[in-house]
Amino acid sequence: MRKIILDVDTGVDDAVALILAMNSPEVLPLAITTVAGNAPVCECTRNCLLLTELLAPECPPPVAEGAAAPLEKELVTAPEVHGWDGLGGDIGSLPTPDRSAIATPAHELLIEIARRHPGEVTLVATGPLTNLARAHERDPEAMALYERIVVMGGAFGVPGNTGPVAEFNFYVDPEAAGIMMNARLNVTLVPLDATTEFSISWKQIVDLARKSGHAGQPARPKPRPGKDLGDIVFRALDHYVRFQREESGLHGAYMHDPIAVASALEPSLIEGVSASVAVMTEGDDRGQSLCMSPPVTPSGIEIALYPDWEMLHALIVGRALARAFPGSLSGDCPLDAP
Ligand code: RIB
Ligand code: CA
Repeated sequence: MRKIILDVDTGVDDAVALILAMNSPEVLPLAITTVAGNAPVCECTRNCLLLTELLAPECPPPVAEGAAAPLEKELVTAPEVHGWDGLGGDIGSLPTPDRSAIATPAHELLIEIARRHPGEVTLVATGPLTNLARAHERDPEAMALYERIVVMGGAFGVPGNTGPVAEFNFYVDPEAAGIMMNARLNVTLVPLDATTEFSISWKQIVDLARKSGHAGQPARPKPRPGKDLGDIVFRALDHYVRFQREESGLHGAYMHDPIAVASALEPSLIEGVSASVAVMTEGDDRGQSLCMSPPVTPSGIEIALYPDWEMLHALIVGRALARAFPGSLSGDCPLDAP
């Protein structure tokens, strides 16, 4: 079982990524760290506390709150995409989690975990890289102890999603992204080039939610109506897909962050190319990522470009959405097949 830690800006696709990680026998999430991005960091932290409590009520992984703002830039959030609270933000307010975040700041926890489990942990970052850059600046030797660092970020041969050239995570904190791309660590970068080739249709989402009583027919009574995972996930995806439909005509949900988690579950799921990566920080180019492959000097970066779509779809539907909408699917995900 591979130890992992997730650094997230929980948002809607981060939430699905968290459910995938916590519903996959190949990995053991040791902790979750939060960073401002899709929503203010306090919202991301509340979302992670709520989701982990619902997913693993007996022993939820600790949640450590991280950076409330990028290293140098003003914080830019994405309420139009993820809702003001990060999980749809339209209908009423989210329930209050039973727990609080631990006192250790996220970047310190990243260092602690690397030193406690040298060479054993995969770090998956699905938000701006502010926490990782802070940890690297404070203790670069510790960050080199991560077995692998999977980063959802960047855009190379496709348009950006935050302006014409920038991907959101790199746009929010371009300085942090540049630090991590130049750190010469074992990094797998999962860019929009891969993640925008794939989406889960709204039709499939509604079909799964209906079968589990979370959409359509009068909702079935639930043991803890306010704290029902399916209700929270359906509300979040409803807002997220509505934005995609209005923004680009896509009747579905991009799964940027679950694809990054899938790469941590099974590295062979996404083939890549080695490259060096530079991140622009100013003006109209802010957040733009440029690559050179093969790299002039060893960079440690592999850009993941060629996913196994069928397996990815099976993982995200079979393990993440099926967990959020229980009873909606029969049979196992092919990755579970003996
Ligand atoms: O550009 C997509 C990325 O930015 C995803 O991680 C999404 O959650 C946002 O953080
Ligand atoms: Ca994210």
